[in-house]
Amino acid sequence: MSETAVADLDPEAAKAEIARLTAEIRRHDEAYFQKDAPEISDAAYDALKHRLAALEAAFPEFIAPDSPSLKVGAAPSEGFGKVRHRVRMLSLGNAFTDEDVADFVERIRRFLSMKDGALAFTAEPKIDGLSLSLRYEGGRLVEAATRGDGEEGENVTANVRTIKEIPDRLPKGVPEVFEVRGEVYMRHADFAALNAAQADAGDKIFANPRNAAAGSLRQLDPAVTARRPLRFFAYAWGEVSALPADTQSGVIHALGDWGFPINDRMARCDSLEALLAHYRALEADRANLGYDIDGVVYKVDRLDLQERLGFVSRAPRWAIAHKFPAERATTVLEGIDIQVGRTGALSPVARLRPVTVGGVVVSNATLHNEDYIAGRGANGEPIREGRDLRIGDTVTVYRAGDVIPKVVDVDLMRRPADAVPYEFPTLCPACGSHAVREAGEAVRRCTGGLTCPAQAVERLKHFVSRGALDIEGLGARQIEAFWDKAWMKEPADIFTLEQRFGPQGTELQRLSKLEGYGEKSATNLFAAIRERRAVPLDRFIFALGIRHVGETTARLFARHYLSWDAFATAMAEAATDEQARAAILAIDGVGDVLADAVIAFFDDEHNRAALDRLLAHVTPRDAERPKTEGSPVAGKTLVFTGTLERMSRAEAKARAEALGAKVAGSVSAKTDLVIAGPGAGSKLKTATQLGIEVISEDDWLTLIGAGEGA
Ligand code: IVH
Repeated sequence: MSETAVADLDPEAAKAEIARLTAEIRRHDEAYFQKDAPEISDAAYDALKHRLAALEAAFPEFIAPDSPSLKVGAAPSEGFGKVRHRVRMLSLGNAFTDEDVADFVERIRRFLSMKDGALAFTAEPKIDGLSLSLRYEGGRLVEAATRGDGEEGENVTANVRTIKEIPDRLPKGVPEVFEVRGEVYMRHADFAALNAAQADAGDKIFANPRNAAAGSLRQLDPAVTARRPLRFFAYAWGEVSALPADTQSGVIHALGDWGFPINDRMARCDSLEALLAHYRALEADRANLGYDIDGVVYKVDRLDLQERLGFVSRAPRWAIAHKFPAERATTVLEGIDIQVGRTGALSPVARLRPVTVGGVVVSNATLHNEDYIAGRGANGEPIREGRDLRIGDTVTVYRAGDVIPKVVDVDLMRRPADAVPYEFPTLCPACGSHAVREAGEAVRRCTGGLTCPAQAVERLKHFVSRGALDIEGLGARQIEAFWDKAWMKEPADIFTLEQRFGPQGTELQRLSKLEGYGEKSATNLFAAIRERRAVPLDRFIFALGIRHVGETTARLFARHYLSWDAFATAMAEAATDEQARAAILAIDGVGDVLADAVIAFFDDEHNRAALDRLLAHVTPRDAERPKTEGSPVAGKTLVFTGTLERMSRAEAKARAEALGAKVAGSVSAKTDLVIAGPGAGSKLKTATQLGIEVISEDDWLTLIGAGEGA
């Protein structure tokens, strides 16, 4: 978000930004509250709300009558009866820094004119679930409602009655009317088990425990809710005919006595320092709680003071949520697994106690290589100043956006006394061959080559992957299953599957049921495999998994040699013939390392034998000679954006390249032509700003002479 300071905005700009934010926040509210499918992180959402609040404070004349700042959530969704809350369900203001908390305490003291003197607070985990109001009359649960927009929620009584932790009846002598409020949530272990069961049944997987809890509570069939492991913590109340105590902590303890689960990490603090200390303690223990929390809630303890303080808009003046920084979490490094890749590289992966980072449960993270574990960066420069990672350590995990989670730091104060430095294996964990690290290389590699089962499985997975043979119904999971059954050891085995299992493939059929890969019958799989008996040369070269040969390099070779025979012969000759080697090096884009890798691949007799077996079933299709002569786009730089409707993006790119064009991923002054389909966004905008020619997909097809029937 590019942000101009609020004070620097002119009214026109402020008005526009308020309108834009109002719409955007409303959309996110709907995604979060009604669809249980948030599109942005809580931190990003908080940032939007913050900005809107700041703008509205400076330009109150532009506040929309239905501004999201004036609401707690979104209106209830259809499907459940509505419940009007007799006492509004409030939201909480947020504090992000220690200073914010100091301001909060200061504000309260000022409001109460309590310069000094005792002022106690409760500090308790902010549970990351969804809030619920439970109404008891005469000691019986009569109604349960979600927060909804704070005024009106959904009637989820039938579902709530299935939650074991929520009492249906209270002990004798409790006030006639009592509304208990708290949070419904799911524990990490229960969440993991639920997702595993959902996956087995081919059902929806939940992104995080909060979504799982929300989705489980808002089931139209209470029987489904009953099977879900929902939990509850009581932390507040709504309408009551009497109160059992005159402090926040006193009432909550009474609720505990009445049979409600209350959080055992609630503390009573009588200074700012004590609040912050409890915050740090909870932050440090976050990974060990077994459920997600996203901050600490501070509440003035004395109820008479709460009463005096009252509310500002929809949040109490007497409470605040001190949020944890997002996208970073601490957890315990429970183990280090070594994965063996297709090229034999040993990659260490952190096995972590599950923790939610940026809205996603993380249980693995990359550790890169042995130097990284030892605390040394590339070229030996320290990344964690010699602070190595040991099993049992409390580590910080970082995850931003879709990026693979990383272990970024370690807390030496919390290192177990018996933790020992990690010894990186020097033998391949899959085949026992020596794993060696060559000078100047960061990775250690298994020397088992074709005898290493881990490499073989990874090579098979690569062979069928998207940019390679791309066989529908044959993915990583199936390859693993087939490998375990010894049905597949090398690529050629894929093509003899049908021969070996017959047209019905009964055993395969059974396996596919077992593995839960849905409807994909053996018949369909055989058909998909047959379809790939002829493959474009570049895909075939890429599929071989030769080191340093990615999709681009494979395409380069295909375009240069045009046929498999020409390519294979050239590579085989180069093993003994310097001139042949020089010819390979003369190709634009081929250097020593790449040439050596390909030549070595063809020089290996096991590889040649495996290739012979494979080529008995598969025919690589000759590549087309680039028709650059007379090509309207030869030498031009093109950008495709938006949705293409007549062919895939990959095919469009391949065609353009075959015509001698360069296809770029982003628009710049160097772009000659932009082909824009529906939904084109920022690239189209940039092109227009730069005055670059923009054409439609149809125009494009006409231009390259592929107009109708392409
Ligand atoms: S107190 C009047 N305490 O946070 C105060 N809320 O951001 C009402 N929440 O709607 C809330 N843990 O869903 C309170 N220990 C806790 C909480 C908590 C989680 C949620 C609750 C509330 C939201 C506000």
